[in-house]
Amino acid sequence: MQISMIGTGYVGLVSGVCFSDFGHDVTCVDNQPDKVEKLKRGEVPIYEPGLDEMMARNMAADRLAFTGDLGAAVAASDAVFIAVGTPTRRGDGHADLTYVYEAARQIAANLRGYTVVVTKSTVPVGTNQEVERIIREAAPEADFDVASNPEFLREGAAIEDFMRPDRVVVGCTSDRARDVMHNIYRPLSLREAPIQFTDLESAELIKYAANAFLATKITFINEMADLCEVTGANIKDVARGMGLDNRIGSKFLHAGPGYGGSCFPKDTSALARIGQDHARPVQIVETVIRVNDNRKRAMVDKILDLCGGSVNGKRIAVFGVTFKPNTDDMRDAPSLVVVPALVGGGAEVRIVDPQGQKEGAALLPGASWHEDAYEAAEGADAVVILTEWNAFRALDLQRLGDAMAVPAMADLRNIYAPDDARGAGFTYISIGRS
Ligand code: UDX
Repeated sequence: MQISMIGTGYVGLVSGVCFSDFGHDVTCVDNQPDKVEKLKRGEVPIYEPGLDEMMARNMAADRLAFTGDLGAAVAASDAVFIAVGTPTRRGDGHADLTYVYEAARQIAANLRGYTVVVTKSTVPVGTNQEVERIIREAAPEADFDVASNPEFLREGAAIEDFMRPDRVVVGCTSDRARDVMHNIYRPLSLREAPIQFTDLESAELIKYAANAFLATKITFINEMADLCEVTGANIKDVARGMGLDNRIGSKFLHAGPGYGGSCFPKDTSALARIGQDHARPVQIVETVIRVNDNRKRAMVDKILDLCGGSVNGKRIAVFGVTFKPNTDDMRDAPSLVVVPALVGGGAEVRIVDPQGQKEGAALLPGASWHEDAYEAAEGADAVVILTEWNAFRALDLQRLGDAMAVPAMADLRNIYAPDDARGAGFTYISIGRS
């Protein structure tokens, strides 16, 4: 299969590289010339474990190429994937579809032979119909179908998620398009991943519904954690007891400082808008958004409590600022609320993060960056664990406490056992456990 991938952002690049690894001929297109040049040299612009190696392997095998020439790539393709950004529009919370529709217009001008135009970007219900209308209007003679193929990749585990998905969702309207999509994903059927074929609107909604449900699950367990703190229950035990029920499942029941990232905040907000636009408000999701926003601020209060009511003049070491481990992504990370509040409260904030500095330095002014956890904690009045990087999971607590002025820890990801931390002399608070 000849595939072109429009947009080499996170989703486009991972998907393009993985499709080439299936054995398809893939051309990734981007309109930023310097980005294309870097990709051609094999430079990976994002941090994603395993991606650089897979990219190099498929470029060497001549199955993966990068170009700025959208026309030539589209003309040669059996399937064209649109994987451009759909950021939250300023002001109204809608997904901004400017880039999707612009891609559709450019694709229309270059279609040759039967082609399936597949939307991979996360788009509101009805967008694929609009993509079809735009192409039909611009190129009435073109032989094409549209399809919706949302992605469910987690940052940091994107290759694993692409190669071993729980399911692949494809919305399409013709048997011809279905056959093309089937061929594209055929390598996965060997691994027994179900491909769910459905209509365009259902495929579009599945993506939002799945992400909003997961965001709700996290927010639910976070509220249970708050309840544990005042009742003396233990959130780890509560989550385990809930998760052992197969109908609930144990995943996404880790209480923490609130969800962030490039998907959950954007998709919950877009789903809430879709509901409002159709006069069917999704009230649970509206509440989840509000509760999660408040939670990030509540984390600041927790740290203030640990520090005796004020952080003024205190040295605080913050371990982890990316929205989760194994990524350099800072989007909607709890740290963006917590660190400025600590700096604003007069604290000296010392950050350690294995990947966060590149993006985080500009976003978290007033804090200093450190390579080593023990060094960052030197003379500190408190350590705050905000992101559960592996590097922070097995620290020598005795050594850490000895380095600090006051051994106090806010473990907002519950990575240490309270008894161990207290045994090492720490004043220790965590989430949903006393
Ligand atoms: C998510 C979805 O998992 C993926 O399917 C979708 O396509 C894109 O959005 P991602 O944003 O990469 O992926 O991260 P994920 O691992 O899902 O975590 C999202 C946020 O939830 C993080 O801030 C994480 O810390 C938080 N989280 C996750 C919890 O607080 N508790 C949990 O139990 C799980």
